[in-house]
Amino acid sequence: MTNNETELTTLQQQAKIRQNIEKAIINLFASEDEGLRYALSAARQAGLPQIQISPIQGKMLQLLAAACNAHKILEIGSLAGYSGIWLARALTPGGRLITLEVNPEHAGIVRRAFAEAGVSDRAEVRVGKALDLLPQLVSEAPFDLVFIDADKPPYPQYLEWALRLTRPGSIIVADNCVRGGKAFAELGEPQDEATAALVEYNKRVASDPRLVSLALAMDDDYTDGFAIAVVRS
Ligand code: SAH
Ligand code: DHB
Ligand code: MG
Repeated sequence: MTNNETELTTLQQQAKIRQNIEKAIINLFASEDEGLRYALSAARQAGLPQIQISPIQGKMLQLLAAACNAHKILEIGSLAGYSGIWLARALTPGGRLITLEVNPEHAGIVRRAFAEAGVSDRAEVRVGKALDLLPQLVSEAPFDLVFIDADKPPYPQYLEWALRLTRPGSIIVADNCVRGGKAFAELGEPQDEATAALVEYNKRVASDPRLVSLALAMDDDYTDGFAIAVVRS
């Protein structure tokens, strides 16, 4: 074999090892039940984009919800309810999830998925543009956990609302904050609006003295993941 072929084989072996590790972690810590699988298949059947969080991210949301004793959770961007089911199941007894979704067709699928997963009693979808709905949530604050996973350009605005709607000890999580490294681009690099917003989001959570935060690559073979921020006490 040539040096290039040897190197390729090594890279393929390493990728395979990472995939097997991920599978083993999912098997042991983050397996999906019928309810979660229903949300995935409903999304597929309706032709929705397959952009749900991964099982490992779902379990990470549950771990974070448990860490802050989450009784009230806010999600921005529901799609078909997959992440919402993970979140709703992590609520303390009597707790509530509010999830915001702009697309009424998606919202209908989410309601059905919540029913199938047995979380309709504690999980509610509100239909509209998140930036229109967020001001109405002031009277329902503080939320213990906020999960941001909707359109990317308003991420910095979603962060401002999350800070307004939380308390010391709350946790603010945002998806897609790695984006193959693009979410850390240096100033001056060409960026589309979505990427620029993710770069801005990371800079803000990294430097805001009210937050302790970290971006974690955990998805798509460690090329995307959450930015996690804890509101300081
Ligand atoms: N959190 C979901 C995936 C969300 S995909 C999961 O992991 O299962 C992003 C969703 O945000 C889509 O359903 C899209 O319709 C919705 N969305 C896009 N822009 C929005 C906006 N301005 N306000 C509310 N929802 C929005
Ligand atoms: C896209 C959006 C997401 O929230 C995601 O997790 C992956 C992809 C997208 O809009 O392409
Ligand atoms: Mg996402």
